Amino acid sequence: MDTCGRGRLGAAAVAVVILVIATAKGSYGVPEMPGPMLVILPSQPVQTKAIGKNALLTCRPNVEDIDLLQDLKWISPDGATVERDNEGQELSDLKKNMYTEVMPGGDLVLIFRSVTERDSGNYTCTATYANTDHIKKSVKIETIMAITFVDAPEEQYPILGTSYKVKCEVKANPAPIVDWYKNSEVITTDDHYVVDTDGLLIKNVTESDDGIYNCRAIVIKSGELNDRNIRVEVHVPPTFQETVKSMEAVEGQATSLTCLAAGKPPPVYSWIKSSTKEDLSNPTSPSSAGRFSVDKNTGVLTIISVHREDEGELKCVAENAAGRIEHTAKLSVVVPPRVLSLANDSVAAGQNGNIACRASGVPPPIIHFKRFGSQVRYVAGGQPEDDHIYVEPVAISDVDKFIEGEEITAGANFVVHSALRSDDGLYVCVAENKGGVAERLGHLTVEFAPSFASTPLKQAWSWHNHPVNLTCLAESIPNATITWWLNERSIENDANVHKLGNGPQSTLTVTPYDQKYYGIYKCRASNVHGDADHEIHLREAHRPSEVLQAKLEVITATTITFSFMGPKNDGGLPMRAYAVQYKEERKTWNEALNKTWLVDTPYILEGLEPQTSYNFRFAAKNDVGFGEWSADEHHTMPKRSNPEEPVILSSGLSGSEGEVVNSPYAYNYELRWKIPADNGEPIDKYDIKFCPAKKTNEGWKESDKCDTIEIKSHDHTAHELQNLQANTYYKIELRAHNGIGYSTPGQIIVKTARDHSSNTASDPYMKEENTALSSGIIIGIVIAALLIVLIIIDLSCCVVNKAGLLAMICLKNKKEPIDQDIKNECREQEPLKSNNSNKYSVHDEEMQRTEAPLIATENLKRDTAVDFDFKNATSRTTFVKNSAV
Ligand SMILES: *[C@@H]1O[C@H](CO)[C@@H](O)[C@H](O)[C@H]1NC(C)=O
Ligand SMILES: *[C@@H]1O[C@H](CO)[C@@H](O)[C@H](O)[C@H]1NC(C)=O
Ligand SMILES: *[C@@H]1O[C@H](CO)[C@@H](O)[C@H](O)[C@H]1NC(C)=O
Ligand SMILES: *[C@@H]1O[C@H](CO)[C@@H](O)[C@H](O)[C@H]1NC(C)=O
Repeated sequence: MDTCGRGRLGAAAVAVVILVIATAKGSYGVPEMPGPMLVILPSQPVQTKAIGKNALLTCRPNVEDIDLLQDLKWISPDGATVERDNEGQELSDLKKNMYTEVMPGGDLVLIFRSVTERDSGNYTCTATYANTDHIKKSVKIETIMAITFVDAPEEQYPILGTSYKVKCEVKANPAPIVDWYKNSEVITTDDHYVVDTDGLLIKNVTESDDGIYNCRAIVIKSGELNDRNIRVEVHVPPTFQETVKSMEAVEGQATSLTCLAAGKPPPVYSWIKSSTKEDLSNPTSPSSAGRFSVDKNTGVLTIISVHREDEGELKCVAENAAGRIEHTAKLSVVVPPRVLSLANDSVAAGQNGNIACRASGVPPPIIHFKRFGSQVRYVAGGQPEDDHIYVEPVAISDVDKFIEGEEITAGANFVVHSALRSDDGLYVCVAENKGGVAERLGHLTVEFAPSFASTPLKQAWSWHNHPVNLTCLAESIPNATITWWLNERSIENDANVHKLGNGPQSTLTVTPYDQKYYGIYKCRASNVHGDADHEIHLREAHRPSEVLQAKLEVITATTITFSFMGPKNDGGLPMRAYAVQYKEERKTWNEALNKTWLVDTPYILEGLEPQTSYNFRFAAKNDVGFGEWSADEHHTMPKRSNPEEPVILSSGLSGSEGEVVNSPYAYNYELRWKIPADNGEPIDKYDIKFCPAKKTNEGWKESDKCDTIEIKSHDHTAHELQNLQANTYYKIELRAHNGIGYSTPGQIIVKTARDHSSNTASDPYMKEENTALSSGIIIGIVIAALLIVLIIIDLSCCVVNKAGLLAMICLKNKKEPIDQDIKNECREQEPLKSNNSNKYSVHDEEMQRTEAPLIATENLKRDTAVDFDFKNATSRTTFVKNSAV
């Protein structure tokens, strides 16, 4: 190892020797000694520096004695000495791009903080050595520039329809070649494009020019390549799409105005009030007061509550990067009408009245008048049928401009010439414009003197100590006052009269203690327009005189129906009642019985004995009392006989054929009747015979298919006939039977309803008309259906609860004993009180209604049907109200 180490040292020593020799040969091979010199590092004589980068050149003195070197400095290409970097001066002093700095060891470095193009040229480092030797060394700096996009924004917005240069200014040194691509296709100059040094000119830009453009620069010498993507978006100036020229809004209401424009990018809107140039989009603008709001993106101007002063021109501005457009809309404000005043008027009849109406509103409202409660408007001018009423327009220039600060814009007068009493009343003034309708009530009072036209009382009756009211009602405006006079002397202070009311109505209550209170009373009504008198004759009333005659209208074995004539003198008052006193001929008047009937009830006396002779006497009654009994009359009751003919109550609708009754049902009919008088023997049964029948010239012809039903009961008043044929005429006969025999038959023709479920059969008695169902039948069917429902309900009530009509019939079989109250029995049209049931009472009422037509066709004796109660020997009878026979 030692030998090896020694061997290496030896080789190094040899190399040093060779180098020294070689150096000596180089230096000393030249005749002169190598003098002091400067070395520039890096050492290439021409150096390339990139613009914008830092660069550093070092000047190193190569001298024997560094202390002899003076004045070391760098000279720039323009011959100036590059300044030193002064101590303490901030390095960040950007103005000083180039400076020198002394390094430890004596090197002087030249520093370019950022190389610029101007920095290219020859730089020389100079120095003086030992006061005499000027030494220097130069280097050439060449600058190169990398590809730089000087002016090439990455987003560019040409405007539609213009020519636009897509800017792409590239710098490089050496100069670059720039070319363009769009969607990977190279762009060359043509009709549409011009490739220019500083950009790409697009002629007549269209929206299809949108896209990403690629601007590419290359420098062949340096092999440099750089590119940039430029997004081009074509901007379209706004154009209006939807605008309004004029617009109406109602004061106090909200409204909105629309302004819609198209453009790219979407335009932004604002609204400006033309008169004040105020921007309504600005919420703090003075006239806005928070009422306006503008949607900048939709262009809608909203007015929350329109004011009158908003009227005028409003400008909509739509703006985007490509342009700005304006549109002016006119806003008219409609002010709803108000009736500001309506003057009432009060005139005497015959004078002229005038109700003046004044109204506000824009546009000026139309004014018209109506009578309160009527829809009919009075026309302007004279009324066509009644020209005493005149609607008169009023020129606004002729009246006061303002009422309570509101401007009058319309007026009219409602004029009544020679006012009539009928003109008095409330009138409505109606003001109407586009904004609405307003009304106000006014009153026209037509005053007139009193009148007693509506006091009909001309005479009054009284009798001893009986107070009577004399009433006067005076019509007048203003209200009249009323005073009372008897035989031309004031009566008001008399102790026996009492006055209630001074007008317009007054009642004088007179209690005639004395004959002097009978006479002519006068009420006098007075107001400012005049007086009026009205006379009322107070007369003394008396009992009626004797009944002139009592006719025996209907006689059965046990009843008599009377009619009365007279009395000759009613005593001054209406008749109230008639009374009969009667006794068997063999008895005295002290044993007589009484009966009293109210006037206009059937005058039927019941409970008489057959084949018995009676005496009757009669009296009439008014409010004063009964008159004298009339002279006796004598009558012997007939012997017992067959019952009277039962009267059939037609249920169903009377058809157009008069005597025919239409049954609401097709297959059944409920026959109802009134129990006839039994003529002294109780009824034991009824026979019902019913046959299909056909109308012939000789009347109704029965077929031979008759049926007869026997009802063994005295108090039945109804029976349901079943299994009838539909749409067929039936002749029905009803006979009552008692121990003596049958009554004459009561008769009715019934037509059954059509059946809709089956075709009409070939029965000759069936009615073969195919006319449409009459509405009467339809109503009948509906009523029948309702009745059936009611009957079913009632039936179920009867079965379940023992309640309802049927229950009453079923449960109330036991007759109450009937009091023999034949004394002063007064019954005023009491419903029939046969003890059968309420249901039958209903029938009876119905009979009263239906009886009149029957009477017309039947003979006199049948006119009066008598209801009997047979359970009790002493029967009670109620007669149906007799019609004027
Ligand atoms: C007019 O008459 C109407 C209805 O009677 C009333 O409501 C209104 O107050 C009156 N007007 C004047 C001014 O008296
Ligand atoms: C008379 O009128 C007064 C008051 O209206 C009334 O109370 C009274 O009963 C009336 N008298 C007669 C007999 O009508
Ligand atoms: C006039 O009389 C009527 C009826 O009694 C009454 O309602 C009205 O108030 C009166 N008018 C005056 C002004 O007294
Ligand atoms: C019948 O009326 C007369 C006169 O009204 C009366 O005197 C008599 O007492 C009455 N008789 C009966 C039984 O009520």
